Amino acid sequence: MSAKIIDGNALAKQVRSEIATRTSALVAKGIKPGLAVLLVGEDPASQVYVRNKVKACEDVGMFSILERHSADLTEANLLKRIDELNKDPQIHGILVQLPLPKHIDSHRVIEAIAPEKDVDGFHVANAGALMIGAPLFRPCTPYGCMKMLESIDYPIRGARAVVIGASNIVGKPMAMLLLQAGATVTICNSKTKDLTAHTKEADILLVATGKPKMVTADMVKPGAVVIDVGINRLPDGKLCGDVDFDSVKEIAGAITPVPGGVGPMTITMLLLNTLEAAERI
Ligand code: GUN
Repeated sequence: MSAKIIDGNALAKQVRSEIATRTSALVAKGIKPGLAVLLVGEDPASQVYVRNKVKACEDVGMFSILERHSADLTEANLLKRIDELNKDPQIHGILVQLPLPKHIDSHRVIEAIAPEKDVDGFHVANAGALMIGAPLFRPCTPYGCMKMLESIDYPIRGARAVVIGASNIVGKPMAMLLLQAGATVTICNSKTKDLTAHTKEADILLVATGKPKMVTADMVKPGAVVIDVGINRLPDGKLCGDVDFDSVKEIAGAITPVPGGVGPMTITMLLLNTLEAAERI
């Protein structure tokens, strides 16, 4: 039997419409949620991401600024700009697009963002708050994945969840959110021995490795929910995920496609985090 396809575009549209309603209520009270997006350098993929983020803000009635800085911007000048934005009452969320050029220490930059404006949820204060189960901002991609599980009413409590990938942006916060929701969580990484032994046990399998189609049908428990965070470009120009969608959809109970799965949800949750930052004012 073929898996239920979790449609990220449809879910994103629904959540963005709720965000638009809450945004206009806030605007009516004189507060327009504002997001500042900072891009340093000319990485082509990052240029597309930041443009989409700013456009999404406009679509739900938020204020946004996109600042493009040349690749030779000094770390000191970037920190100075962040400090100004931290103090700017029109700005409720600050996002510095990663990766940054090598001469800039991204950890230092993230730590310079005021935690209450850190809509990416990457600041150590926000990572720590998530870890103790009291999150202020949930990192956008994991937050979007949780919304997708919620959208199919998946009973997370007591389920076995396996996360492949242990990044600070996706794998680790994802594991924390699943744990908080009552799952028994295993985090696998590139050194994990006998990966299939782990993945075969998963009721929820979340894949964030950056390796095209690495999860194949033989690695998946029949009926599992498979969430694919990967976005990879194949030599023929087509996009694909970290999961071999065509074979896995025949085994899984539910699966997210690429494109049209987790991707649209990530930006949606950025909007939600920005809205919530403004609502806290
Ligand atoms: N680069 C890739 N993903 C992200 C993200 O979620 N936030 C930021 N700031 N940069 C990224």
